[in-house]
Amino acid sequence: MKIKVINGPNLNMLGIREPSVYGKSTYTDLVNLIAKRAEELSLTCDFFQSNHEGDIVTEIQNCYGAFDGIVINPGAYTHTSVAILDALKAVSLPTVEVHISDVDSREEFRKFSYVSLYAEKIIKGKGFEGYLEALEYLKNK
Ligand code: DQA
Repeated sequence: MKIKVINGPNLNMLGIREPSVYGKSTYTDLVNLIAKRAEELSLTCDFFQSNHEGDIVTEIQNCYGAFDGIVINPGAYTHTSVAILDALKAVSLPTVEVHISDVDSREEFRKFSYVSLYAEKIIKGKGFEGYLEALEYLKNK
């Protein structure tokens, strides 16, 4: 089973950006953590991070016929991007949406997610652990 893990804008800044919200661990720490759990679960994981909406759309399109599921933290595009929602609907793969922080207990604008209109599971506020839970969900479904 092949899973694509996509992280959107500013998630490459983990460890530096707002550590009180996102923690002190880096994007590399996150990738290593997910890769380790993927190996334990006998999943093949491929990672992609971009600060550009169109590149994320293209990456999702490229998952068609090549991956069995998607784990996505769209970053701020969560709250703005119809294009990312449409790309997920186009490829129609099982998708888990992950947010490191609890978006529901932050600013009002973070409460709405376009991606949630497609994602079959949404994990919020569990830190990096949320990505591991997403892998387990896809593995067991
Ligand atoms: C985030 C929450 C978003 O509102 C924010 O724009 C991010 C990260 C999270 O992981 O908690 O960049 O998706």
